[in-house]
Amino acid sequence: MTGAQAATPAAPPGRAAAGIPAVECLSVEKTYPNGTQALLPVDLKIAEGEFVTLLGPSGCGKSTLLKMVAGLLEPSDGRLLLWRKPVAQLHECAQKLSFVFQSPTLMPWASVRSNVRLPLDLAGVPRQEADARVADALALVGLARFADALPRALSGGMQMRVSIARGLVTEPDLLLMDEPFGALDEITRHKLDSDLLELWQRKKLTVIFVTHSIHEAVFLSSRVVMMAARPGRVVEQFHIDAPYPRSADFMVSPEFARHAKTLQDSLLRASTEE
Ligand SMILES: Nc1ncnc2c1ncn2[C@@H]1O[C@H](COP(=O)(O)OP(=O)(O)OP(=O)(O)O)[C@@H](O)[C@H]1O
Ligand SMILES: [Mg+2]
Repeated sequence: MTGAQAATPAAPPGRAAAGIPAVECLSVEKTYPNGTQALLPVDLKIAEGEFVTLLGPSGCGKSTLLKMVAGLLEPSDGRLLLWRKPVAQLHECAQKLSFVFQSPTLMPWASVRSNVRLPLDLAGVPRQEADARVADALALVGLARFADALPRALSGGMQMRVSIARGLVTEPDLLLMDEPFGALDEITRHKLDSDLLELWQRKKLTVIFVTHSIHEAVFLSSRVVMMAARPGRVVEQFHIDAPYPRSADFMVSPEFARHAKTLQDSLLRASTEE
């Protein structure tokens, strides 16, 4: 750990500091079949209830790492454990994970309700139970009134909420989000950031979040993992030890500015280190 605020982890709300880690990357590395060395060995342990953000220049392997945690991509070497089990055995665990992509990837011909119900349909959950869970997930993201709407009738921010509801409907313990709000305007992004934090606290989720925004990283994270490119690797980590809940006031505080400056300096180093 490096950085002025790196001494002790910010205790995630409502979570014991000890316990089984949600995620363990043990010398996990990735070389793509074309020879691109996307990630040098990464060692990273994420406790239950942490909000960890991956930050770094384009091509540093953020999406590669997230996809390996999700089991969508095989590491070339090393071991990846979720709750102490290999990713491939996650279906045998009580815990679940969801992946929210950068674009909402909704089925345009299907209602909001059907879009959110998709993972439950795929899992064979009976319709009545599925509909009740969809209603809960839509309420959680403030879209209860839009269950019958088609995606095209919704704004970009609302479509992203549908995508998040679809991620939450399976009641995941681990939420992986790859630049989910990158394409949204500043106001909508901040609103969704605040909603996400509120959900994270209420549902006691573990989140791994990818962003290019230093401000978003400081606002959301209990820990920021800085990565550098060519080859992709983890270079520094920072604990953002400001208490939760974090409000808009936090964003104009000297403390926020201090964290943002630390990350900015680190990002600059990471972007020029090749
Ligand atoms: N399927 C693939 N085959 C070969 N190389 C790939 C593949 N996917 C990614 N890469 C390469 O691996 C490296 C890491 O890519 P990755 O997409 O993980 O970076 P990233 O940090 O998510 O970048 P960005 O910020 O642009 O999303 C890059 O050099 C990229 O070109
Ligand atoms: Mg990416």
